[in-house]
Amino acid sequence: MELYIDSANLSEIQKTAEIGIISGVTTNPTLLAKEDPSLDVKELIKHIHATIGGHVSVEVISTDTKGMLQEAEDILKWFPEATIKIPMIPNGLAAVKELSRQDISTNVTLIFSPGQALAANNAGATYVSVFLGRLDDIGSDGIAVVRETCEIWDTQGLESMIIAASIRHPIHVLECAKAGADIATVPYKVLQQMMKHPLTDAGVRAFITDHENMMKSKGGV
Ligand code: E4P
Repeated sequence: MELYIDSANLSEIQKTAEIGIISGVTTNPTLLAKEDPSLDVKELIKHIHATIGGHVSVEVISTDTKGMLQEAEDILKWFPEATIKIPMIPNGLAAVKELSRQDISTNVTLIFSPGQALAANNAGATYVSVFLGRLDDIGSDGIAVVRETCEIWDTQGLESMIIAASIRHPIHVLECAKAGADIATVPYKVLQQMMKHPLTDAGVRAFITDHENMMKSKGGV
């Protein structure tokens, strides 16, 4: 399963890119709004792409098909490699259908049920983003929705790539990998948590101490 970072923070993206574990970035208007308002959003997104080189999703704001298609056209003028992120509403699917006809990559976002995922696939979405955490937040079972979606994909041989989104903790990531999601888009904090284990840290400290003691006993530094 590929990992993307769910962030618009350049420092987080750069730090994660350096260790080579991610192949893409998903942004959304809320993530972009958290960044320094003096930053030029277009420059920031282009900088993000230059840092990662892989998938970068950029979301439209319009809720009518014409507006979404206009926004997609504008985004692709200044960032031709963009995947256009479109909300899972009927007008959004009409835009996806048209963009798919033009061979433009799309990511249908705010999917909370397998039925929505299936509809997005049929409209021609390149990616379908299933939100787990927000389902858990309202007392539903987010991972069950990812599992069911993956099961339908396997049975039917569907083509859209499944992105597990709205990830809250490392167990979400593992459960999505077990379910067969193609990608998980993961916040920086959760990527850090995934890589950390107290026994690893203790082991590294012990190896260094043992090495230093050995060198001292040999009369070295
Ligand atoms: C996905 O593309 C979204 O940006 C993201 O995962 C939303 O997650 P949230 O529920 O943490 O806002």
